[in-house]
Amino acid sequence: MKLLKNMDVAKKRVLVRVDFNVSLGDSGQVLDDFRLRATLPTIQYLKQQGSKIILMAHLGRPDGRVKPEFGLSQVKAHLEKLLGEAVGLASDCVGKEVEIMAQDLKEGEILLLENLRFHPEEEKNDADFAKRLAGLGEIYINDAFGVSHRAHASVAAITEFLPACAGFLLAKEIENLSRVRDRAEHPLCIIIGGAKISTKLKLIQSFLGKAEDIILGGALANTVLRAKGMAIGQSMVEEIEVEKLEKLEITNSKIHLPPDAILCHDKNNAALCRVGPVGDVKSDEMILDIGPDSEKLFSNIIGQAKMVIWNGPMGLFEKEAFAGGTLAVARAIADSGAFSIIGGGETVTLLEEKKMVDKFSFVSTGGGAMMEFLCGDKLPGIIALEK
Ligand code: 3PG
Repeated sequence: MKLLKNMDVAKKRVLVRVDFNVSLGDSGQVLDDFRLRATLPTIQYLKQQGSKIILMAHLGRPDGRVKPEFGLSQVKAHLEKLLGEAVGLASDCVGKEVEIMAQDLKEGEILLLENLRFHPEEEKNDADFAKRLAGLGEIYINDAFGVSHRAHASVAAITEFLPACAGFLLAKEIENLSRVRDRAEHPLCIIIGGAKISTKLKLIQSFLGKAEDIILGGALANTVLRAKGMAIGQSMVEEIEVEKLEKLEITNSKIHLPPDAILCHDKNNAALCRVGPVGDVKSDEMILDIGPDSEKLFSNIIGQAKMVIWNGPMGLFEKEAFAGGTLAVARAIADSGAFSIIGGGETVTLLEEKKMVDKFSFVSTGGGAMMEFLCGDKLPGIIALEK
């Protein structure tokens, strides 16, 4: 795979695919700029080289139609703040007006194209659309690890039309994630939380053979507890076929489930919650976080690991009262001295808020992309660069 540092980008028009798919607040403001900051090294290097920089990005899932709430103006404004300079925003990502704007760029200037997913051709990996995008530049850089698991026009097909390479962020993601995937040190512990087990089944299965310990928390653990015949009251669960969970070997001794939990009747009334064993959840209660015994158990396991991978929160962390378990896991990883990889948007958002991101060996910008990479899947965006 060609790397940015080996490409001659000086003074050239360079198309950079970035993953600026971030959460926006009620007034459209960027809530967590981790993904934006992660691309700054590539952007700043290109500026030093006098490249004319054209950024391509998507936001949300507008289903191939122009939906103003998925426009990139707030992302552009935030990027300007981070860079301390003006960034142009095109009204579309293809077409005459954009072509003129791209042609008129001066050395070191930056133009952000409007949301690629306003065009259905993007997600169809359409070759003509990719060619039109490619026509805007002379070199293509993929610095969007987070979307490299999608065979989309700006990620895959575009590499047919331009010399292509990996940006600094993509290269760093591949280097760090390959280390745990291909050269794991043992004991290896993987911690998986969040809501839906269906999206993480493959990851859990693939690590059953590789890791010594698999810790499950969050609502996805509720689904497993229920499958094991435990009463979980009103806790959040996912309806999933029993056969799928059977493949997971839920009784495998490598899989650790929380022994206790924070139990509540009402998630808005934390004062009335209690700590109880997971075997004693009343029919009107719900599990909202792991309990102190779980924190201890999980911290001990993590403390013995040489490598730790973590994806997904242990409870309803958006509410301070139920963020304790997730933070306890974060602290245990930080204190363990193990090589640690953290990923998944929501976990990273919390760690950003708590100023803990720098306590881990590597924080991935990928959610789904990180999971697929770790499972051993070849990501379309990476295959395209290897051709
Ligand atoms: C992500 O947020 O994981 C990436 O930007 C990919 O987004 P998608 O799941 O909507 O394709």
